[in-house]
Amino acid sequence: MADVTTLQDTAREILADGKGILAADESTGTITKRLEAVGVESTEENRRRFRDLLFTTKDVEERLGGVILYDETVRQDALDGTGMVDLLRGRGIVPGIKVDAGAKDLAGFPGEKVTEGLDGLRERFAEYADLGLRFAKWRSVISVSETLPSATAIELNATGQARYAALAQEAGLVPIVEPESIMDGDHGIDRSAEVTEAVLAATIEALRRQRVALEGVIVKTNMVVSGYGGSDQAGPDEVADRTLQVLHRTIPAAVPGIVFLSGGQDDEQANANLDAIARRGPQPWTVSFSYARALQGRPMSVWGGAEENVAAAQDAFAERVRVTGAANRGEWTR
Ligand code: 13P
Repeated sequence: MADVTTLQDTAREILADGKGILAADESTGTITKRLEAVGVESTEENRRRFRDLLFTTKDVEERLGGVILYDETVRQDALDGTGMVDLLRGRGIVPGIKVDAGAKDLAGFPGEKVTEGLDGLRERFAEYADLGLRFAKWRSVISVSETLPSATAIELNATGQARYAALAQEAGLVPIVEPESIMDGDHGIDRSAEVTEAVLAATIEALRRQRVALEGVIVKTNMVVSGYGGSDQAGPDEVADRTLQVLHRTIPAAVPGIVFLSGGQDDEQANANLDAIARRGPQPWTVSFSYARALQGRPMSVWGGAEENVAAAQDAFAERVRVTGAANRGEWTR
């Protein structure tokens, strides 16, 4: 395994000075849905143009310490001919890579998923390390209802997370371990808390069993919120208290960082909640954000695929990064 101190230093570098992570690692299937929703055809060139737009936006390195990429992007050049990975490195942003192959239906367990992508992963990590990538991401998806998840889905996904994380560390990349409990559905915040706690506890236990160094891991999780379909929606103070209670119960202080996904919350809600969490700091770990939709949604719709909108879309992205960075320091105002 790579030296634990090196892994720990990488994790700390990504999250230094209140910085967070941009998740720009949508698989082709996912980005296609997002682009088509704003009327843009999902060609390789359009995906490249959109990612170029994000990565060349001025000053975002002040608030973004890392960007998670998808395999296609790692192999693309920016519009000025620089490799995308080099472009980010040149700005002082640590490049990372999503390595899972997606959450697939779990046979025998209707409505539940297991994440695939372990086959050949050691060899892929060796290549990614050569390409200059320094951290990785693996997302598992846990369905939540009054009866789900099953113990089997929790266990299989936790085992997969740990197998991936051990291989990442062996190759010298910091694994972002992301078990996402999905907040669709009409369950209340108590059920969200109960499931998130069980999932994080099982994940940490699997990491320990498989000898993953917790000092060289970043945990990425959902905030503990009310199911989006429920009538009673918890406000930021309750979300912050419940989220931090679950994290204190499950995540050892050896873990250097915990980052939140936005998970389909609207931009304002995601940042109101992040701000309330930040105001309760300091915590044993660095707490920050790793958003995809809450950072990219607005700029993507402003862009709409049109060259003449690039400057306005970059302004919109810079604004999202600034506001999210403020929330992450507990300085967000509505
Ligand atoms: P959202 O912020 O859109 O939930 O995405 C974060 C992410 O990386 C999910 O894997």
